[in-house]
This record gives sequence, structure tokens and C-alpha cells, in this order.
Amino acid sequence: MKAVSLLIHSAGQLLTLAPHADGRPKRGSEMGELGVIGDGAVAVDGARILAVGTTPEIRERFTLAPDATEIDARKAVVMPAFIDPHTHVLFRGTREWEFEERLRGTSYMAIAAAGGGIHSSVRMFREASDEELLVESLARLDRMAALGTGTVEVKTGYGLDPEQELRALRLIAELDRRHPLQIVPTYLGAHEVPQEFRDSPDAYVDLLTERMLPEAASLGIARFCDVFCEKGVFSVAQSRRILAAAAALGMRPKLHADEIEPMGGAELAAELGAISADHLGRISEEGMLAMAAAGVVAVLLPGTVFSLGSRNYAPARRMIELGTPVALATDCNPGSSMTESQPWIIALACLQMAMTPAEAVTATTYNASAALGLADQLGALSPGYRADIQILDAPSYARLPYHVGSSDLRQLVIGGNLLIPGPEPPTLGPEPPTLGLEPPTLGRGPRLAR
Ligand code: NIG
Ligand code: FE
Repeated sequence: MKAVSLLIHSAGQLLTLAPHADGRPKRGSEMGELGVIGDGAVAVDGARILAVGTTPEIRERFTLAPDATEIDARKAVVMPAFIDPHTHVLFRGTREWEFEERLRGTSYMAIAAAGGGIHSSVRMFREASDEELLVESLARLDRMAALGTGTVEVKTGYGLDPEQELRALRLIAELDRRHPLQIVPTYLGAHEVPQEFRDSPDAYVDLLTERMLPEAASLGIARFCDVFCEKGVFSVAQSRRILAAAAALGMRPKLHADEIEPMGGAELAAELGAISADHLGRISEEGMLAMAAAGVVAVLLPGTVFSLGSRNYAPARRMIELGTPVALATDCNPGSSMTESQPWIIALACLQMAMTPAEAVTATTYNASAALGLADQLGALSPGYRADIQILDAPSYARLPYHVGSSDLRQLVIGGNLLIPGPEPPTLGPEPPTLGLEPPTLGRGPRLAR
């Protein structure tokens, strides 16, 4: 019998996510299929999953290595750690005063046009030391881990000049070295037109394509290149130029698209073979169809819509109906979505975009991994996948959107190691209770009419 380094058993619901063999994203009704195993178990060796099955099946095939960890899930939910495929975690300082200004009625874009918004964070970024940036950002990654996230995409975009954007890339790589969570770097030199180029935005696009992108690519850190394609920021034509140049240098396109004004950003993402297009509150029907046909993942950011006090949630139901693969992310940033919480994003997805809890789980695990090109190895509980696993103190994954603004994370395994060990089992007195799993029959009293 093979000896393993980690065995998790007796899950009430083990969510395998039933991945596709080639790691392509899930779409349509596939998004609701979580591949649930009752009384589930997972065997891990080193950083990888060896096998999943029922507890008796796994116990029959595997023993524990001498220093192995055994976790009795006590009928809880065992599922992949969340993947957060769109964040701006590397920033210094916060913008509460702008938040209050927005509550008084000034729009996000009006604040940006007056030199605030992203420009405020650019000033704070340029003035901050490396260590200040790292300390603040590492604390955000800690909070993400405490909420069940295992992999985080992090964008540059608060440097906005050649040196500062390279510094941002190096700091993102340093976050990956210093923090146990896995970091996926994206170059976003086109996050905003810097103040210095306000009167000549095309000259900044020239600087990006001729100097900044080649320098960024030569560091070999960023896998993706993103652009904020929006009215008053970068046009579709400018975004196309920037992303085509990045693609030629080996950085796959991603876009902030159709967030505030319908621009045709989704169509551009399809045209360029982008890995994802994100936001999409104002996406057109043609854009959804084009993304579905090209297999571009729609990364929806309902925390941003909520935090901007907008009603323009992306049409998630229509996307799922048309076969556009949907993922969800926090967009964690100091301006439009100051949150680290994927569970809260799941609640918004269910309550504001009518996604089902199962679809929202797919969108924050397997499809979120597909938005980073990793779904053949991350975001599912399946042999060969990275052992990034969370255990929720809950009888059903529906707890995630139901228990709003809170966290039921009990344990978190990252790369096969127990990063959040959870409570010690009591040494005296009774064993901790297992979760009451049977849905109660509505006995006594009058039955509800169906
Ligand atoms: O995704 N839209 C552009 N970027 C961020 C906001 C960044 C900021 O305001 O600092 C977003 O919402
Ligand atoms: Fe963003």
C-alpha cells in the first residue's frame, strides 16, 4: 500500500469540481456540476493530489507515512482553495476620503478626472519604500488566506512609468517568495494614463509599446498583460495596440473591459484570443457570443459594482446561457473594491447576479484557475492537481453565500502543507460534535404548501 503525506477523510461533501482533462473552462450547465463525493476522502503526496474517493476506498488503497498528517473532516465540506484571478493587491495607502466623496455623489470617473482615483494610489506607490509596499501587501495576502484563498493574481499598475512598473513586477515576485500563497503576476502598465501624459495619451501608448513592454517582458515575471479599456482611459484602438505588442513579447492579453461604458472590449478580447475579459457590467450580446466562441473567460467583479454603489452587475445568467465561461474575483484594490473576501463575492454573485451556489463555487475555483491558464493543474480535487484544499465548518457549500460577511474556514492546505491548522482537537472531554447533516423533515406544525 502506498504511504501518503496527507489524508483528509470523512468529508460530508468533497467537491472534486470534476475537471475537464484538458483544463478548458466550464460553461453552461457544466458550471453547476461540482462532482460531489459523500463521505469523501483525498490522499496527497507532497504538493500533489494522488487520489480522491469515498473514505473506505481511499483507506483501502493508502496508508499514512510516519510523519503524515491525518485530518478528520467530521462531515464538513472539503473543496479546492479559492483562486482570486483579478487583484491589485500591491498598493500603499488607502482612499477612504474618496469613498466618502463618492457617497456624497461624485462619480469614480469624475474623481479620477480630477487627479484622484488611480492617480492618488500612483503618488503613494511612487513615494513608498519597497518594504512599506511589501508589509501592507503581505498583510492583505494573510487576510486572503484566512478566507480560504490559495492563489492570487496580482497586477502592477500603480507605478505608470518605466522604472516604477519594473519595480512593481519585482515586488510581486518578492511577494511570491515571501508568502506561502501562490502569486500569478500580470503587467498593467496601461492601468491609467499618467498625469505627465494627460495631454498626449498616445505618447504614453508609444512609450508602453516601444520601451515599457519589452523591458517588462525581459524580466520574465509577468505571464499576462492587462489594459484598462474604458472611455476616458484607453480606447479600443489603443488597447489593441498595447495588447498586440504584449502578445508578440509572450504576455497573453487580459482586459478590464466594458465596465462603465459599453466599448466593445469583450469583442476585442475575443479578437485577440485574450485569456480573460474582466468586469463586463455593460457587455453587449455580441460581446458575450464572441467570448463564448473564442473561449475567453469572463471574470466578473461584483464587489466593485457593489462598492461603487452601481447597479450594473454583469449579466451572469445570460452569459452562462450563451456558453460564456464565468469566473469571479475580488478586484481587491484601494479605489473600487477594498475587499480580500472571495466568500463575500460568492454571496454577491448569488444574491445580485442570480448565480447558483454551485456555479459560484466553480467560478471561484476551477474557472478562476482557467482565467489564469492553470485549470489543468489547479482548482479541482483530482489526481495530479496541486493540493490547495480548504475545509469549511459547514455541512454544505451553500454556507458560503448564506453566511454573509463571515468565514467558516476551518483548515487550509497549500501545496500539501497545512497553512491554517484549525482548532486543536480537545484532549479532555468529549470529541467535537460532527455537523448535523440530515436536512430536518418539517415534522410537527402545519406543513408548507408546495
Ligand atoms: O479594476 N478599473 C481599474 N482598476 C481598478 C481600480 C483601481 C483603483 O481605483 O485603484 C478596478 O476597478
Ligand atoms: Fe481591476
